[in-house]
Amino acid sequence: MSTQSNIRIFDTTLRDGEQAPGCSMNLAEKIEVARQLEALKVDVMEAGFAISSPGDFESVQTIANTVKDSYVCSLSRALEKDIDASAEALKGAKLPYIHVFLATSEIHMQHKLRMTPEQVLERTSAMVKYARNYCDEVQFSAEDATRSDRPFLAQVCAAAIQAGARTINIPDTVGYTTPAEMTDLLAWLQANVENADKAVFSVHCHNDLGMAVANSLAGALGGARQIECTVNGIGERAGNAALEEVVMALKVRRDLFGADSRIETTQIARSSRLIYQIIGQGVPLNKAIVGKNAFAHESGIHQHGVLAEKTTYEIMTPESVGVRVNAMVLGKHSGRHAFESRLAELGYALEPAELDAAFAAFKVIADRKKEISDADLEAIVSHRPQVLSPVEPSAQRYELEGFHVHSGKDVTAVCVMRLAHGDEVHEEVSLGDGPVDAAYNAVDKIMGTSEAVLESYNIQATSDGKDALGEVVVKLRAGEQIRTGRGLSTDIIESSILAYLNAANQIAAS
Ligand code: KIV
Ligand code: ZN
Repeated sequence: MSTQSNIRIFDTTLRDGEQAPGCSMNLAEKIEVARQLEALKVDVMEAGFAISSPGDFESVQTIANTVKDSYVCSLSRALEKDIDASAEALKGAKLPYIHVFLATSEIHMQHKLRMTPEQVLERTSAMVKYARNYCDEVQFSAEDATRSDRPFLAQVCAAAIQAGARTINIPDTVGYTTPAEMTDLLAWLQANVENADKAVFSVHCHNDLGMAVANSLAGALGGARQIECTVNGIGERAGNAALEEVVMALKVRRDLFGADSRIETTQIARSSRLIYQIIGQGVPLNKAIVGKNAFAHESGIHQHGVLAEKTTYEIMTPESVGVRVNAMVLGKHSGRHAFESRLAELGYALEPAELDAAFAAFKVIADRKKEISDADLEAIVSHRPQVLSPVEPSAQRYELEGFHVHSGKDVTAVCVMRLAHGDEVHEEVSLGDGPVDAAYNAVDKIMGTSEAVLESYNIQATSDGKDALGEVVVKLRAGEQIRTGRGLSTDIIESSILAYLNAANQIAAS
């Protein structure tokens, strides 16, 4: 793998990100994310932890068979059976990558692994060698490296390199370190690990003290040539280093880091949005790079400065991360040609059937909303439920025919719901704590989904103004399965119902 002066971006959204509570994804969703990560041009994508479940195995395998332009990685504990499972799942990969990890801190070795340092050393060497029988790109991670004894850590890293690891990853597993310490640690390791120049050093930082991005960049200043991160910084506890922040810091401050990534930064906004649509966790308004306000200049002084000369207050352009400002607006008189060519300008190449569906949705929304912005268009296109939440074609969906809600202060909300199912139309009335609750109860009565539990409900406006589109993402659990549903409308009760129906249809079909 070429390193040159580039920093490799190792994305672990589908592994470390996905294992965080509320961030789980189904197979179709993981494939959608993997395709987007490939468009983003991540160097390595960690697709999962093959041995951890049949579902994870299948997703690593399917992603390995799909992705061609990024290395596809599977995580493995330092155990033969884990490495075998990873190798098996990666068989179809054009660019396979096996990641082996073992803890090196005293606290982990003693209480979790119950292994002596000598055993850890010996196991590292044996398992890296074992993994190298399957592929060239083998990475070793010294879990909890930042709380490990440095001379011992150096010995383990040397053993891994000697055994054939091409990448040595230094995780700050519990988000404990600081930038200065991270720079020093990486520089020290490169000076003290035998044959350090034969491997790429990598950093993997968690955000428990809010320093994951700073620590990752500090690692790069200390000589790391790979940074591990996740889109929107999703991950266990306080999350992982946010890919978009790491990448843009490298780009904007290339003068300081002397290196950049190969990331297609104009795909950042779309990647962030896709993660929201799939896991239903929006980013804060002021989140760097991908927050709604990241490029908003409210103060008069700033506005004046930016109008006179953009660089007065802008260190990067919104366009560079895929955010379009003052873009062309479509409306109800816009024809199919204008719709199609605007989508093409936004980088969407839809199949004819997908285009038909998207144009039909556009027309419905344009009838209610005067101006359709690029953000609205992107929401419309990415809300093709058959793409994000497929229901078997053979399964009969329940479609929304109509609804009526009555709610207010000091009255019980009531909903009359009409759903079409094939040739039949079902109608039910339900009460609830509010209009959404009443509507969901009515859907449950018709579809028989009252046992399903609404795990999460999120709503976000896709653009500004009173007539903005409301985009709802829900997670519905039935037994072991969790399904994500999405809905989009100018009427937030309707988008809430559409999202719920979308998830309930998937449950009914499985
Ligand atoms: O945080 C961590 O230590 C990890 C390793 C498996 C790399 O996620
Ligand atoms: Zn981690």
